[in-house]
Amino acid sequence: MKIFILLVLFYIGYSGNNGQECYCNQLLTEADCLMSQLQCSWNSFKQQCKYETTIYQPQSIIREYCNQFSNDTCNKLKPCESCVSNGPCQLRYGSCSHFTGCTAFVEKDNSKCQQISERCITDGVQCVEIGICDSYKTEIACQQDMNHKWCFWDKNTSKCRYPEKCEELPKTFYQDSQCKSQISDCESSQQGGCQDQTIIYSVSTTSNTSSTTTTQTTTTTTSYNASPSLNQCKDFTLESECIKNLEGSPCYWNENSCKDKVCSIAPKNFKTNKICQNFLSFCITMKEGGCMNNGTCQVANTLEACAKDIFGVDCVWTANGGCIYKNCSLAPTTITSNQDCDSFIKDVCVVKEGGGCRNKECEDLYGSSHVSCWTQKSGCTVGLNSKCAKIKNCEDTTLKGACMEGLNGPCLWIFNQFSNEQPQGKCYSYNSCQSIQWNTDQQCKQVSPFCTTDGTKCIPITQCSETNTNGGCVNGNDGQCIQTVMALNNTQTVCKKFDTCSSAYYLKHEECQNANKNCTTNGLTGCISLFDCSAYKTKESCKINSEKYSCFWNEIQQICRDSICSDYNFNTHQQCNLVVINVKDKCTSDGEQCLVISSCTTYKSKLVCNNAQATEGTCIWSELESQCKVKQCSDISAQNLANCSLELGSCTFDGTKCIQWQLCSNYQTKVACNTMGLDGICFWSKSGSCSLMTSCKSATDDEQACRQANQKCNWLSSGSCEDHQCDSYYKQHGTCTNLQNWNGQSQIICQEKSGNCNYVDPMTLNQKDCYKVSNYWYTWNPTTSKCAICNPQIKPSNNTNGTNTSKNSNNTNSTTGNDNTNSTNSTDSSETLTNQESTSSSFFITYFMLFILIVFI
Ligand SMILES: *[C@@H]1O[C@H](CO)[C@@H](O)[C@H](O)[C@H]1NC(C)=O
Ligand SMILES: *[C@@H]1O[C@H](CO)[C@@H](O)[C@H](O)[C@H]1NC(C)=O
Ligand SMILES: *[C@@H]1O[C@H](CO)[C@@H](O)[C@H](O)[C@H]1NC(C)=O
Ligand SMILES: *[C@@H]1O[C@H](CO)[C@@H](O)[C@H](O)[C@H]1NC(C)=O
Ligand SMILES: *[C@@H]1O[C@H](CO)[C@@H](O)[C@H](O)[C@H]1NC(C)=O
Ligand SMILES: *[C@@H]1O[C@H](CO)[C@@H](O)[C@H](O)[C@H]1NC(C)=O
Ligand SMILES: *[C@@H]1O[C@H](CO)[C@@H](O)[C@H](O)[C@H]1NC(C)=O
Ligand SMILES: *[C@@H]1O[C@H](CO)[C@@H](O)[C@H](O)[C@H]1NC(C)=O
Ligand SMILES: *[C@@H]1O[C@H](CO)[C@@H](O)[C@H](O)[C@H]1NC(C)=O
Ligand SMILES: *[C@@H]1O[C@H](CO)[C@@H](O)[C@H](O)[C@H]1NC(C)=O
Ligand SMILES: *[C@@H]1O[C@H](CO)[C@@H](O)[C@H](O)[C@H]1NC(C)=O
Repeated sequence: MKIFILLVLFYIGYSGNNGQECYCNQLLTEADCLMSQLQCSWNSFKQQCKYETTIYQPQSIIREYCNQFSNDTCNKLKPCESCVSNGPCQLRYGSCSHFTGCTAFVEKDNSKCQQISERCITDGVQCVEIGICDSYKTEIACQQDMNHKWCFWDKNTSKCRYPEKCEELPKTFYQDSQCKSQISDCESSQQGGCQDQTIIYSVSTTSNTSSTTTTQTTTTTTSYNASPSLNQCKDFTLESECIKNLEGSPCYWNENSCKDKVCSIAPKNFKTNKICQNFLSFCITMKEGGCMNNGTCQVANTLEACAKDIFGVDCVWTANGGCIYKNCSLAPTTITSNQDCDSFIKDVCVVKEGGGCRNKECEDLYGSSHVSCWTQKSGCTVGLNSKCAKIKNCEDTTLKGACMEGLNGPCLWIFNQFSNEQPQGKCYSYNSCQSIQWNTDQQCKQVSPFCTTDGTKCIPITQCSETNTNGGCVNGNDGQCIQTVMALNNTQTVCKKFDTCSSAYYLKHEECQNANKNCTTNGLTGCISLFDCSAYKTKESCKINSEKYSCFWNEIQQICRDSICSDYNFNTHQQCNLVVINVKDKCTSDGEQCLVISSCTTYKSKLVCNNAQATEGTCIWSELESQCKVKQCSDISAQNLANCSLELGSCTFDGTKCIQWQLCSNYQTKVACNTMGLDGICFWSKSGSCSLMTSCKSATDDEQACRQANQKCNWLSSGSCEDHQCDSYYKQHGTCTNLQNWNGQSQIICQEKSGNCNYVDPMTLNQKDCYKVSNYWYTWNPTTSKCAICNPQIKPSNNTNGTNTSKNSNNTNSTTGNDNTNSTNSTDSSETLTNQESTSSSFFITYFMLFILIVFI
């Protein structure tokens, strides 16, 4: 309840914000663009912020899900069509979505299954997940396990298992290595397939064919080994031959012999890095003279060699004479700007408090999506306030946009409308349907239409005939399923593909409904399709017709017909209202039985009139006229506001009696005036009239009105009503927020600093705060390095005490509409009144909700 009030207050506080917010195309920096509350997206080629016109269909959200994985989580995920490669995604009907499980798909071809996901192969009928051999149920699926180990189909037991003997390895094997890779002491057999190693030996000694192959192998090996010495540097004896070896690597003539040219043989009189580099490009100088390989920073032992490591990463020479990798903490404390830290090590360092630099953390980056954060720094995802944050375990991730890759693997954001915890959804560690522990089909369908339940967790759907009867028998990969007992009076349940209702054998309407929502029972042999009420022959069938409207069984005539309100004997309106008779009629109650809702004047008895609801609302019986009339506020004799409104929503209280809610100016008493007008908060003036409040000053004679408008106004103990200032609002409400004036056309910008909330001139805001703190009215202009307003036709108000902040602007005309009463003739005032009422009705509803909440708490 309290939260609800806050929401309403929030809404009132911000409802005036129209048209001042920067448009996408006015945002000039990527950071502001990413931060925008509108659907803006940054085009990094054009360096422009654009409105994202594509409407977010569920389809594209799913596509987005798969597009967001970084390459190492989900190889080749871009473009989405390659989402099939062993990732958290699957491709079906041209769309890429989170992987659910293979059995949801009917494919007879391995290649077709693989096109859905590389995690799937076929079992001849449908796809199945590649797993361990023992998990395959058919011979056709019994091929390889997830680690590419081969499986064996044991015909005797009709089971798939790992091969135990060489003969059980595939007949297609023809190389020893293939056999050995599966079972180490197997070798290939002449007939194809594999054999025990020992048998091969006994064959090779006796058989001519195999001994010839052995000799052949020996000769080739010898010829290969015959002249290797000629190919190496050390084999050259003349300086003129000493150039390169057979592989093309350089040789070096030194001390009358030819040697491989490597850094370490460079003469000791090589003393500079330049000479070493000229010797071989990857050599660096060393302390004692000579050269060594460029490697990590740590290998360098002179200042000169300590420049960059072999990959070009910067090194630094330390005070105590060692070479280490350059890192942000080595920056001198005289550095005090991000720019200087960035030039210390590009894209890595940011300024540290107190001077110097530190490593850039996720929290230092701006980004509005997982991808934008991850691409800036791996291990980062989107965080609060358009900043990036470190990734966490899926279960600890509270932001939908960050629910992508957790520390513990892929995540998925799922709504569970059947649970009250986190109604806006929750982040789950996700691998397939089976990751989610829900026990009804309806719940699991929230994960994917390809999921159902097995009674304890979600599972991918499969063929109806293979589907469990613990709640999973709803739809299969072969269509709709129906659950039934095997036969009449049998208790064993099975799941079947749904053809007609008659394939289920139940004698109760509810049981047939459970089997399929389009079925009822005939009461004799089993279920039948829903039909017209009049077609049902037994009382048990006579429940609902094919349009799901109620039927009624007439016991006397023993016939079934469409039901009417008066068939039901409920004594409250609520009960009768739940009865579904047909499209147009709804039922209410006269206190004894139900009847069709109609207008008050058609209710001819006092009993009906006083109990039944009418199309106009509530009725009341007039003893005087002996007829039923629409109940008016004046018919209520309540002593306070709460009772007036509770009895009739259209009534407020004027101090003595209930009256209709009206525009402020029509209220005649202060009590009524202070309840709220249809057009907003009202105030009572000294002269004794009620008006719509359009400034705080105007409520200086009406403390109650001032306090009612506490989102904008502050009641001073000195007895005046003043516009809230940053600090007074902060003291009263505990939050530092920008304050908008009465018509929402200007605002005071407030900023919290060390526990105080103060006015700031938005022009003085820095790049980081400009857009956010100005409530999205200003943006950072990188060319001028200034915080500038986007829509300058509306100037923000100065921090003055004046209340007439934008009286000079013309557009009070249609937005508030209450400014003057002179513009309309009195003759047509009734018409304008209704116009005013309708334009301000949404405003009223907001306030009315607030009011009701406050009154009834
Ligand atoms: C992912 O891989 C594709 C293709 O290999 C490449 O074009 C793309 O830039 C990579 N994306 C990231 C974020 O590394
Ligand atoms: C199958 O059973 C037959 C006869 O019982 C037996 O000879 C054969 O070895 C069995 N095959 C396997 C693979 O167990
Ligand atoms: C080490 O190798 C890198 C990359 O090739 C090069 O930029 C650097 O200058 C080399 N180091 C030295 C001291 O020559
Ligand atoms: C089913 O059981 C009911 C009562 O238990 C019995 O009257 C009926 O004949 C049985 N039907 C069949 C088909 O066995
Ligand atoms: C019931 O029938 C309607 C209309 O033929 C169909 O759209 C709906 O899917 C069916 N529902 C079930 C549960 O079979
Ligand atoms: C605010 O007031 C000062 C002086 O009172 C004036 O110089 C300034 O222009 C005003 N700013 C705006 C935005 O009206
Ligand atoms: C606003 O008015 C109050 C009282 O009249 C005064 O004390 C205060 O200084 C004023 N504030 C500004 C910013 O002018
Ligand atoms: C008021 O609006 C009229 C036309 O709509 C325009 O000509 C005039 O300049 C406006 N006045 C002000 C003060 O904005
Ligand atoms: C007031 O509204 C009317 C109708 O919407 C429009 O024609 C007129 O120009 C407006 N006047 C001003 C001053 O904005
Ligand atoms: C209404 O019009 C009359 C005469 O035309 C004028 O004297 C009076 O000040 C106007 N009132 C308002 C609120 O504009
Ligand atoms: C007021 O009413 C008179 C006659 O009823 C009409 O001529 C006149 O135009 C109206 N004035 C306005 C401002 O609507």
